[in-house]
Amino acid sequence: MRAVIVAAGYGSRFLPASKTVPKEMFPIVDRPAIDFILQELSESGIEDILLITSRRKRALEDHVDREVELEQVFESEGNAAKQRSIAVPPGRFFFLRQQRMLGTGHAILMAEPFTGGDPFVVVFPDDLHVGGPPLTRQLIDTYDRTGCSVLAVEHDPPHLERYGVVSLAADGLHVTDIVEKPPPGTEPSRDISIGRYLYTPEIYPALRRRWERHRGGEFNYTEGVRELARGGRVVIRRMEGRRLDIGTPAGYLRSILEYAAADPELAAEIEAFRAGGGDAPGEDSAASAS
Ligand code: G1P
Repeated sequence: MRAVIVAAGYGSRFLPASKTVPKEMFPIVDRPAIDFILQELSESGIEDILLITSRRKRALEDHVDREVELEQVFESEGNAAKQRSIAVPPGRFFFLRQQRMLGTGHAILMAEPFTGGDPFVVVFPDDLHVGGPPLTRQLIDTYDRTGCSVLAVEHDPPHLERYGVVSLAADGLHVTDIVEKPPPGTEPSRDISIGRYLYTPEIYPALRRRWERHRGGEFNYTEGVRELARGGRVVIRRMEGRRLDIGTPAGYLRSILEYAAADPELAAEIEAFRAGGGDAPGEDSAASAS
């Protein structure tokens, strides 16, 4: 199966940082956010990955390329750990630019020559996944059992109004509708769509039909999902594990803290900060010189 990462968005919640640095390259301590997505896809058995990008996102292309000069330096130093740290992420990468910000539905339509007549995975890289089987793998398992398009779903997070909220059939599996960012109090359920989707190729004609009637503004993926859902062709997969939402400054900060808390040295720094002290004992003074 192939995957499409929709990474064309401006990242306007992170301006001015995102003016020149793609938000997908923002570091979670020392790893760019996109690395977590690429690892998830690789662990899910996906090799071919299309990144839909835009102007100012060239760093993403460099990230999946070799850094020959540094490789030579680290090799001559015999520094295997540093060599590993700049290794090219696993996968074969393809790039397409979305030239106008016409929305996620439009971005998906651009992927058709890449995915052809096969089912494929779509990733919105603002959502990272930790714990449990890789989220993309979970979607593939559900597709294998149902043959339907699959939405990854989380139950009852805060701020439902920021998400696509799904309505479910009585079987608790099939999606009957999805509403993008419903005003508080109007949500059809407490189940939100998170940034992983497995689409059958039926999504293309569904999106195209809606696109032909679309009159201005962003064209959202939900337009196509609604149409497929009406025919009973969309199911959910309740996410096992947890989502880290790096799409807002607050969520990004929490994600960094959570990642750091799992590393004993960095966890000690967080503790020292909380206690109002200076550096944690054991701080490597050489690090500040690099
Ligand atoms: C997008 C989708 C929304 C989904 C969310 C998941 O919203 O449009 O349906 O629930 O991702 O993170 P955005 O984060 O672009 O506002």
